[in-house]
Amino acid sequence: MHQVFQRKQAPQTTGLAVRRWAHFYDAAVNLVSWGKEQDIRAATIELANLQLGDKVIEVGCGTGSLAIAVKKQVGLTGQVVGIDASPEMIDVAQRKASQTGIDVTFQLGLIEDIPFGDQTFDVVLSSMMFHHLPGDELKRRGFAEMFRVLKPGGRLLIVDVEPPTNPLHRILYPILLVHFWVGTNLKAYKPLLENVGFTKIEVGKTRYGGLSFIRGSAN
Ligand SMILES: C[S@@+](CC[C@H](N)C(=O)[O-])C[C@H]1O[C@@H](n2cnc3c(N)ncnc32)[C@H](O)[C@@H]1O
Repeated sequence: MHQVFQRKQAPQTTGLAVRRWAHFYDAAVNLVSWGKEQDIRAATIELANLQLGDKVIEVGCGTGSLAIAVKKQVGLTGQVVGIDASPEMIDVAQRKASQTGIDVTFQLGLIEDIPFGDQTFDVVLSSMMFHHLPGDELKRRGFAEMFRVLKPGGRLLIVDVEPPTNPLHRILYPILLVHFWVGTNLKAYKPLLENVGFTKIEVGKTRYGGLSFIRGSAN
């Protein structure tokens, strides 16, 4: 049985939940991406190969920008859910969805205990959140959960920032992203994903420097 959280009760995780800065998150993303956030969301959606009618979950959805864009792709017959560890992020996401009149469900929930049954979704997305998860064990639990909630043949897409190589970015990223670098290496996730059952795994760079992806199939 999955935990059900009250509206303001933050679930316990060793992941780095974004709380105090939730209201500034969109502005920070806009700054770090040099105003290219919309393009980055579009590139993520292309990599996800979404189909009309798909049932999609975004884990660590933050303020909901990607999930809202995804709903436009999957159409009226599609369903989109976003979960996040931070009540403040979920508040912002819900407000954005209601202001735009887009039907996306945002709720509290952890990647390590996704609050949905087995084989519920066609697609699981994760965008810029894996660098918030310290250590392989939490990531491994997250991968196992993402596999569990995917239907057979369902697709996983993870997009994340790679550690910056440019010295200026090394200083700016932690300041603008409002946390210190936890570290990502998407190539290193391949064996972990294979371990929990994912197949057809591909790793690559998105069309934006510094943003990479790994995707796979639940058979
Ligand atoms: C950098 S934000 C990314 C938000 C959004 N996906 C995007 O593309 O803009 C990372 C999010 O992961 C959330 N998070 C951290 N640990 C988590 C966990 N264990 N389960 C679910 N969400 C988590 C944080 O609260 C934060 O909102």
